[in-house]
Amino acid sequence: MSELLRIENISKRFGSFYANKNINLTVEEGEIHTLLGENGAGKSTLMNILVGLYQPTDGKIFLKGEEVHLHSPNDAVSKGIGMVHQHFMLVDAMTVFENIILGDTNAKEIVIDREKRRAQIQELAQRYGFRIDLDKYITEISVGEQQRVEILKALYRGAQLLILDEPTAALTDIEVEGLYDVMHKLVEEGKSIIFISHKMREVMHVSDRITILRAGEAVATVKKDEVSAQELAAMMIGRDLAASSFEKVISGGSAVAELDHVSYNRNSKHYGLNDISMKIRSGEIVGIAGVDGNGQTQLAQVLTGVIAPEEGTISLGDSKILVYDPNNFILRRTAHVPEDRNLQGLVGDMSIADNLVLRRVETDKFSSLGGAFLKKGAILSYAKEMVEKYDIRSRSASQTVRSLSGGNQQKVILAREMEAEPDLLVVAHPTRGLDIGATRFIRQQMIDARDRGVGILLISADFDEVLELSDRILVLFEGQIMGEFPGENPPVDEISLAMTGR
Ligand SMILES: Nc1ncnc2c1ncn2[C@@H]1O[C@H](COP(=O)(O)OP(=O)(O)OP(=O)(O)O)[C@@H](O)[C@H]1O
Ligand SMILES: [Mg+2]
Repeated sequence: MSELLRIENISKRFGSFYANKNINLTVEEGEIHTLLGENGAGKSTLMNILVGLYQPTDGKIFLKGEEVHLHSPNDAVSKGIGMVHQHFMLVDAMTVFENIILGDTNAKEIVIDREKRRAQIQELAQRYGFRIDLDKYITEISVGEQQRVEILKALYRGAQLLILDEPTAALTDIEVEGLYDVMHKLVEEGKSIIFISHKMREVMHVSDRITILRAGEAVATVKKDEVSAQELAAMMIGRDLAASSFEKVISGGSAVAELDHVSYNRNSKHYGLNDISMKIRSGEIVGIAGVDGNGQTQLAQVLTGVIAPEEGTISLGDSKILVYDPNNFILRRTAHVPEDRNLQGLVGDMSIADNLVLRRVETDKFSSLGGAFLKKGAILSYAKEMVEKYDIRSRSASQTVRSLSGGNQQKVILAREMEAEPDLLVVAHPTRGLDIGATRFIRQQMIDARDRGVGILLISADFDEVLELSDRILVLFEGQIMGEFPGENPPVDEISLAMTGR
């Protein structure tokens, strides 16, 4: 194998803070090289340098032995570096097809041969097993599908080095398998991949070599075959993590939410709900198992007032909902960790502190005269407390949320919603993008909330997470509930079967 990429002493400073410090790294042709590190360790920053989005403060980059200067993303693309970002870079107002061909530097023809391109993209999609409708708008597709579009886009542009920043976070198990196939095909063709993931099982499955980043520095590069997952975890966080398991409960509490024959867009298999009746009781976690894109998004949306059911009713506590509006649901003590943290969860240009009090700025604790005067001191000291408690890695509570690492942004939403002391907490993919330590912490917080009497609806593409946390498990398939199972000793095979509609 010969060397494709060499990074020499790369540093990146923001103000006085080093996000990357003297990093050395090589990637061989045909290699899958994984970057492993806690939330905020500097993985995405380093990759953004490789795709020309950031200029390094110091250091050099070589491709096939030649020094390169990557001034812009176009530079990087023309040198065969493609990236699937942790935060999607798709244009909402365009279709999947338009997004994929957007900025295509091979576009020499004046009139774009749309049909030819469509065929090429369709062929790529088929080859890699992606089910995707090219004519849908980005707003109409799920987070998982958006991620597939990003992957397709990079492949379509013919990347030699493909950077995948947590590409599997939003994919279903089958799609992840499909992605592994894609990755293997690519390295067989001699292409190289830099892979970022917090899922240890996955890292152990796909990697040839692994580089561990800690606080901006590369602390070790190891061959996959020469380490164990435990050793990697210890190198990453600098200590061992004890195993955990949670006690399951059967709640005798009253219903905090009830759906009565709820339907929405019922003829759609992937984006609708078909005659759903269910209860969420105080003091229990109800987990939804199912392949992503079987109505999970819509279920979370009707339960948080984002959309109104077309048939049936929803009650919160004792009262039937008449007005479907998120604010009405918040007033009725519902909290929501949405599946798309950028779109619905956070205001990127606002500070951590302001995001943390976003929904409660009008309460007496944070303002007087119903929001007319902000109690800045109170907001800041509350924010500091949350930053501490949720271990939001940041320099100050006034830092913008946009400048936080992906996992630390997720912690801001979780802190805000879990601390709202809701009766009903609707969480979608709570630990997506979190490192193993943070994942542990958030799961424990959910259990603690349950034990305080919060009723929790858990939607997660991570089946293990559903099994680990749920007191009851409902299976959702094509908008319908296929069965209910106990969370204690769950019949895994039966549940898996129900997830496929049988
Ligand atoms: N534009 C920026 N301005 C200021 N600080 C930044 C900026 N971008 C990143 N940082 C900081 O650099 C550090 C590293 O962030 P980075 O996004 O590289 O982490 P990461 O390893 O990708 O983490 P995660 O696993 O959570 O995605 C963080 O502390 C982050 O707040
Ligand atoms: Mg990142």
